[in-house]
Amino acid sequence: MSAPLLHIDALCMRFGGLLAVDNVAFTLQEGEIFAIIGPNGAGKTTVFNCISGFYRPSSGRIDLEGQSIAGLGSHTVATHGLVRTFQNVRLFKNMTALENLLVAQHRHLRTSLLAGLFKTRAYQKSEQDAIDTAMQWLDYMGLREFANRAAGNLAYGHQRRLEIARCMITRPRLLMLDEPAAGLNPQEKLDLQGLIQRLRQEHKVTVLLIEHDMSLVMGVSERILVMEHGKPIALGTPEAIRNDERVIKAYLGDE
Ligand SMILES: Nc1ncnc2c1ncn2[C@@H]1O[C@H](COP(=O)(O)OP(=O)(O)OP(=O)(O)O)[C@@H](O)[C@H]1O
Ligand SMILES: [Mg+2]
Repeated sequence: MSAPLLHIDALCMRFGGLLAVDNVAFTLQEGEIFAIIGPNGAGKTTVFNCISGFYRPSSGRIDLEGQSIAGLGSHTVATHGLVRTFQNVRLFKNMTALENLLVAQHRHLRTSLLAGLFKTRAYQKSEQDAIDTAMQWLDYMGLREFANRAAGNLAYGHQRRLEIARCMITRPRLLMLDEPAAGLNPQEKLDLQGLIQRLRQEHKVTVLLIEHDMSLVMGVSERILVMEHGKPIALGTPEAIRNDERVIKAYLGDE
């Protein structure tokens, strides 16, 4: 059997006296949609920061298909096909939607600087390809009409989708979404659920999701990890998680 796409084991992240991630372990199979849930401050985003190379974990393993990627740094991790969105939208707000998608591709393609300076034919062709690909992604996300609008002036739900497009345009293997439904209205949340499923189906991407919206989490995930105070307290199917005593207690308190 081949190694799983991602294998996390005994992951710990300490900030001074605080153990923000305490012995977290899970495995992601290729093509899976997997969610991490838990109360505020549980350590979910810190797990993302470790996987995506923004933090070097204090200890533990993060393996991509059997190879350690822990502590490699965010740029290197991204070149391995692991990309993420942030809890707060991070776009180039003064650039247009189209330009945001061009920048993402340039970072990915790393077209040579000299080719750019001399505007070689190959360079012009790759520029046109980049624009075509960007427009295809804007179409896919229902954002074509906003191609030339500054990203910062898009409706919030559109900014969220543009951010996902910016990830997808690099053709990632793992898409990590940190609270993608935050700030969305009920219809946008439903659309997001459909989008996540289509991305997996049509673009063969594995999805790791942090989300507080339970109907989205339960509707889209195959498996769910629940964290509380840095610790994993349950891992299972939506059905199992919904009926787990510890999970109910973590969310509702002791009464
Ligand atoms: N860079 C940091 N330095 C110090 N403490 C941090 C740092 N990042 C996170 N923490 C702390 O680690 C704990 C876990 O934070 P984290 O952001 O991972 O939680 P979360 O589960 O994503 O919460 P939320 O649902 O509110 O986003 C919190 O107590 C937080 O204050
Ligand atoms: Mg968070």
